[in-house]
Amino acid sequence: MDRFLIKGGKKLKGTVHISGSKNAALPILVATLLTDEPCVLHRVPNLRDVRTTLKMLEYLGKKVEYRDNTVTITANGSLKNTLPYELVKQMRASFWVAGPLLTRFKEADIPLPGGCAIGVRPVDIHLKGFEKLGATCEVKSGNVRIHAEQLNPANIVLRFPSVGATQNLLMCACLIEGNTILDNIAKEPEVDDVIDFLNKMGADVQKDEKGRLIIHGKNTLHGAEHTVVADRIETGSFLLAAAATRGDVCVKDCVPEHNSILLDDLREAGFALTVTDSSVHVHPYNGEIKPVRIRTAPYPGFATDLQAPWMTLMTLCNGTAEVDEDIFENRFMHAPELVRMGADISTEKSVARITGVPSLSAAHVQASDLRGGFALVMAGLCASGETEVERVYHIDRGYEQLEQKLTALGADIRRYNPDKDAF
Ligand code: UD1
Repeated sequence: MDRFLIKGGKKLKGTVHISGSKNAALPILVATLLTDEPCVLHRVPNLRDVRTTLKMLEYLGKKVEYRDNTVTITANGSLKNTLPYELVKQMRASFWVAGPLLTRFKEADIPLPGGCAIGVRPVDIHLKGFEKLGATCEVKSGNVRIHAEQLNPANIVLRFPSVGATQNLLMCACLIEGNTILDNIAKEPEVDDVIDFLNKMGADVQKDEKGRLIIHGKNTLHGAEHTVVADRIETGSFLLAAAATRGDVCVKDCVPEHNSILLDDLREAGFALTVTDSSVHVHPYNGEIKPVRIRTAPYPGFATDLQAPWMTLMTLCNGTAEVDEDIFENRFMHAPELVRMGADISTEKSVARITGVPSLSAAHVQASDLRGGFALVMAGLCASGETEVERVYHIDRGYEQLEQKLTALGADIRRYNPDKDAF
């Protein structure tokens, strides 16, 4: 298994270009199941989760070509309506195929999903929604069988604005004739990108003045071409890495307004930023990093996916900062690893208290989830000495060409595999 070796202590400097959003690309790829016509998607990041999704589409019966971040998806005979556990266990987003398959075939048989081990992560909101649309859901031996004689439009109020459930139900409702209303939906930019793609496919999805989604279901959808939105989590990750190393970095090809709260928090912590329509420049700063309390929340609140990297920044603050994790119940697995690198962190239930230390020191650490893995890389970039981060496969799920991008910014990071590479 690959590891990263990071010689820390270098300030990041230069320009980094942001890739297409993983969390938008995955549901958009899945949405191509709603048509037999060709779809062309640009700016699709070359990531492990994307490659898993492409394998899933191929398994289901699509023909897939992936070159230079462009994916062309065409029909390749009839589609299947079931997935094997081997594919589903790698990634929670594999469950998003349920909506499109159900709406096309009135039946889908999907194993319960895997993904990062950051909490229970049930799919009850998805299933409740399918039931409202007229389906019956049976969970048996780790599989969910969803079927319907006929699907009907419905008014659905989500009990929580789940990103995945919003996307899954939205895709399903696009092919149910009549008006479906989705209320208390996720407002993440990735959901808007999916809506944009669906409308390009001929769907009719609008937001009303109350922020509800009004879906005028159609008989069929057609092929479409789309460019995936910039990854706001990668954007935030590089901004935080730049800040933590006291660097001088321009993050380009992003949508700064998707990271508004983070930008405010970085300024509050002391950093000077220059923001344009598509870039954010973190200026060099040698003053004290002020402790800033954050609380994760659905968009536009502080993104739970940036909580771990934010915690790494706060390990170097002057004072004590609090981090409230209100989205996932088990998302502090990076904290004990950061403590091994000299951080002062205590956690109780959903709150972490971080008392800043003057510096971090290198250690052998282990990534246990995607964003927590990035937080450890960030700590390695700041720490004196050589940090070894194990289980890089978690990080590969969500960061395209991470070590190349960091190396171009002056970091000393290299990938090695102890089973293959001579040392
Ligand atoms: C998506 C993102 C993930 C991000 C998360 C929250 C993708 C591929 N992943 O995950 O990176 O961290 O949004 O912004 O887009 N929940 C239920 N029942 C459900 C569904 C969710 O209880 O049926 C709970 C979850 O356990 C969690 C919370 O709701 O505590 C948020 O989950 P959700 O918004 O659904 O996250 P995902 O779509 O899985």
